[in-house]
Amino acid sequence: MLFTAPTGSDPINQSPVVKLILAENVDTVAPGQQISFTVSVMDPEDGSSDYQEIPTNEVFVEIRHFKYNTIKEISKYEYNPSSGLSNIKAVGCFDCHQWKNDLVGPSFSKIKQSSQQKAINGLIGSLLQGSAGNWGNEMMPAQDIPETKAREIITWLVGEKSNNLVEISRGFDGLFTAETSIQEGHYLLTASYRDHGVGAERSDRKTGYHSVSLTITN
Ligand code: HEC
Repeated sequence: MLFTAPTGSDPINQSPVVKLILAENVDTVAPGQQISFTVSVMDPEDGSSDYQEIPTNEVFVEIRHFKYNTIKEISKYEYNPSSGLSNIKAVGCFDCHQWKNDLVGPSFSKIKQSSQQKAINGLIGSLLQGSAGNWGNEMMPAQDIPETKAREIITWLVGEKSNNLVEISRGFDGLFTAETSIQEGHYLLTASYRDHGVGAERSDRKTGYHSVSLTITN
């Protein structure tokens, strides 16, 4: 007789535990000040960053600026990345782009600023067909993603949800330089890792995150 697994016995995927640690134990930052940080990840299925079991390019730290919210409101911030941002992280855009500074391609914040002049459909076209000559001498090959994903990405990039992002870094360590032009409010640094789920279908993938807030002082 063939063994049939009883229904409902699929393994359950557990959430990764992510920790963001600032080099110095501070809760304030002055404009221009630099703060280095490290991230550790422990996932019951994928493994531990202590043993190099977590891919470096799947660990991100997003830094957001909140001008008007109180520290109490910020501490209740629920991390819920939009599908546009999740797609950008998952399909390798950060191999060539950074948020704040140019890499092979122009920075995403620059593209965002210039997008007022350029229609969303034009940017989606650049992603799907590739792009050359708009920004410099490097060209972007056509990105092998479905149009729905490209639309989610561009809509997120040019939309309001990404307005308060000041930096996104990838990997287990990074250096944050507080903007000299930002004199008040708070920063929220959020480290995250999306695990690989369970089984061949990698179903039930879960994201773990940890946020640390910094109040801007002068
Ligand atoms: C192999 C490197 C590379 C990868 C991978 C890459 N890009 Fe680009 N990207 C570039 C370069 C170089 C340019 C500038 C091209 C130009 O001057 O027209 C660019 C330009 C862009 C533009 C502006 C296009 C325009 O019409 O002005 C957007 C938007 C963009 N990239 C988004 C993305 C997203 C989203 C991803 C991931 C799906 C991605 N890129 C992956 C290199 C890359």
